[in-house]
Amino acid sequence: MRGIKVKIEKIRADFPVLKKGIIYFDNACMTLRPKQVIEAMNEYYYEFPACPGRSLHQLGNKASEAIAIARKKIARFIGAKNEKEIVFTRNTTEAINLIAHSLKFGKKNTVLSSDREHNSNLVPWIIARERGIKHVIVKEKESHEFDLDAFSEAMNESVKLVSIVHASNLDGYILPVKEIIKTAHDFNALVLLDGAQSAPHSPLNVKKMDCDFFAFSSHKALGPSGIGALYGKKHLLEELRPFISGGSTVSNSTYESAEFLEVPEKLEGGLQDVAGIIGFGKACDYIEKIGRSRIAKHERKLNKKFQSGLLELEKAEIIGVKDTEKKTGITSFNIGKLDSHEVALLLDEAKIAMRSGMHCLHSWFNAHKLRGAVRASFYAYNTEWEVEKALLELSEIEKHLA
Ligand SMILES: Cc1ncc(COP(=O)(O)O)c(C=O)c1O
Repeated sequence: MRGIKVKIEKIRADFPVLKKGIIYFDNACMTLRPKQVIEAMNEYYYEFPACPGRSLHQLGNKASEAIAIARKKIARFIGAKNEKEIVFTRNTTEAINLIAHSLKFGKKNTVLSSDREHNSNLVPWIIARERGIKHVIVKEKESHEFDLDAFSEAMNESVKLVSIVHASNLDGYILPVKEIIKTAHDFNALVLLDGAQSAPHSPLNVKKMDCDFFAFSSHKALGPSGIGALYGKKHLLEELRPFISGGSTVSNSTYESAEFLEVPEKLEGGLQDVAGIIGFGKACDYIEKIGRSRIAKHERKLNKKFQSGLLELEKAEIIGVKDTEKKTGITSFNIGKLDSHEVALLLDEAKIAMRSGMHCLHSWFNAHKLRGAVRASFYAYNTEWEVEKALLELSEIEKHLA
């Protein structure tokens, strides 16, 4: 892993929003953007705001070149050897839907998932049931960790795809994907990892992991919103039937037929978000410069401090997996019987941003009979001081209201 030592104050100075004095602990929802990313996107709009891949003039060529460079950076960021294995999508949700709609399923095929999937990796499979695809859910252990034995038992030859979250947005728990992928492949099943919460947070190499597909979003990785990517092994992407077809996906057409371009273009219908793609590439550069092992260590340290502080509060309850060594920097919690939204609004008054509610994990919360939780999620620019301040506010909330 490349990575240079960058002091936290230097990192913080790159994020304009932090100058407002806000403590931003909502990174699992969306990270902040450094000025380098904003500037790279502005450069496109100021200097060469033209159509890539279509127009041959100098501005169009510059845009095509910028997209090609960004695609290479994004491929390198996740350890893909070939940039043609990166398909641009609007986000993780669209990347998962691309697979749900484009992978060729037989009538008796099964898709297998965990019981803690974000709606984006649950609802497409609920809809797929209408096409005769079976969706099987593997329940977690009492400790909330993934149950590898139950998973192995659920595997059989009908499973075409294991579509599963890599790191959970509930509690940051990192699933044992090495074992999951090995078992799935033993049954000739493909594996799609929902990497929305893993890609920006720890070192990652899709080739070494040997997953077949990997979906992730730029806005959780210091990049702009509205852009994400699907990685797929090239021969598997080539087998996909385009989900959104049209302009930019074909080299020729008649009134009756269309000749598709190769991947990834074949799967990227319509003009893409050029500035978004450029910003996404720049964000990957920025993260790589800090180094994801360093980010993982930092997040874990903050999370450990935060969880220990919560445990000292009389009425705080940590939701999900508690072992910080098995998690990225996310902790969901409740304070007594207080509604999570109420707690989040009180924190907001103290300029502390945390998310509340069911975090698009309604199925898991409903199954556990919980109305929601407050979620703190950390990133490279957060500090120990900020964690202390949040804990102080929470103890005040507990003292006066819970
Ligand atoms: C684990 C996980 N999967 C999928 C998504 C959906 O991501 P997006 O909204 O970028 O499609 C999220 C977003 O919070 C997530 O945390």
